[in-house]
Formats: sequence, structure tokens, C-alpha cells
Amino acid sequence: MLEEIYSRRSIRKYTNEPISCSIIEKIIDAGRVAPSAKNRQPWKYLVYSGEAKVRLLSIMKKGIEMEEINPRLPLSVNGIPDAKNTLRIMENAPVVIVVLNTNGKSPFVQLDVDGRFSEMNDLLSIGASIENMLLKAEELNIGTLWIGNTCFAYQELMEYIGSTAELVGAIALGYKAETPAMRPRKKIEDIIVYFD
Ligand SMILES: Cc1cc2nc3c(=O)[nH]c(=O)nc-3n(C[C@H](O)[C@H](O)[C@H](O)COP(=O)(O)O)c2cc1C
Repeated sequence: MLEEIYSRRSIRKYTNEPISCSIIEKIIDAGRVAPSAKNRQPWKYLVYSGEAKVRLLSIMKKGIEMEEINPRLPLSVNGIPDAKNTLRIMENAPVVIVVLNTNGKSPFVQLDVDGRFSEMNDLLSIGASIENMLLKAEELNIGTLWIGNTCFAYQELMEYIGSTAELVGAIALGYKAETPAMRPRKKIEDIIVYFD
């Protein structure tokens, strides 16, 4: 499955075909076996489709609208149009998976240094788990989009979900209705520094 590292793309257009629970489970199972700091496995995946997804995204829409009126992320207001675009993509995706850090606290709460390192390790672990899932989905010919724009509706979404965990983001999934080319990447020589 290593070729999927190179063939995966962010997919933002999906067909209406639903994704079966057994496929979703195969994808999440790939996330389940990812490495994690101290093997803490700090992830939880909430799978939304149908009416439940409609309700979730209506909450996200309200949150983004509130962000426009009264920004809680004042330095990121330029990102609101992109968040609205991401919301439309999620609305058209058959499945949205919400990603939680079960050891995390709300980013609106201050952390001490130890807490920051611990959170850093937990978020890296969750990133590894998400990437495993994206690659498994690619192997199964399912398109995915890794989403961080849930941050614009953080409080509304977490109140709705009813959890004190940390909302890390979401993943949209669906059968692909586009085949984008690889997006630009830095050159290998620009990211390596050798010491010997
Ligand atoms: C942590 C993270 C958050 C992201 N959030 C969003 C998002 O909210 N909306 C979106 O359209 N794409 C989002 N992306 C997708 C990136 O834009 C995409 O991975 C990047 O442009 C490279 O394109 P590729 O995935 O096709 O290689 C996110 C990716 C990552 C890793």
C-alpha cells in the first residue's frame, strides 16, 4: 500500500454513493493501529452520515456565522471564506468523521509547558492515525479530505457533541468525483539538511 502515499490527493467532490459501514470500519481500523506517544491512543472517531450529518453541519454553519459577527479567532478572520467553502464540501460528502483528542482540553484554555508537550505528542499521534486512515481509504478508492476548519465553530460543535475532549478536526469521505493532479510540493533538497 505504499504507492498510496504518492497517489493520495485531497478530494473535494464526491458522488452520492453511500459508503458501507464495513468500509468505514476498515478505514478506522487502519487508524486504530497507528503509533502513539506512550501508546496512549488518544483518538476517538465520531462517524456522521444522513440526518445526523445534516444536524452537525447546521451547527458548524451557525458557528462560522457567529465567528463573522464576534470572532473568537480574531487573527484568523481571513480564513472564514475558506471555512465556508470547506463546509460546502462537507455538506456534499456522504460521510464526515469528527476527530477528537480524548486527552485534550479546549484550545481556549491555557496550558502549562508540560501540558503543551503532552498535547503535542497526542496531536502528532492523532495525525499519524489520520494519515493511516487517508492511505487506507485511498487503497479502497475512497476520496478523503482532512479538515482543520472545524476550529471556526469550535465551541458550537463541542457543545453539540457534548464532550470535554479536544476537537482536532474532521475527515470528509466519499467515492471520488474528481481526479486532481498532485499539488505543489517543496523540492527534496529544500527540506533535507545532512550532517556527517
Ligand atoms: C491538518 C490539515 C488541515 C486541513 N484542513 C483543510 C480544510 O479545512 N479545508 C480544506 O479544503 N483542506 C484542508 N486540508 C487539505 C490541504 O489543503 C491539502 O492537504 C494540501 O493543500 C495538499 O493537497 P493534497 O492533500 O491534495 O496533497 C487540510 C490538511 C491538513 C493536513
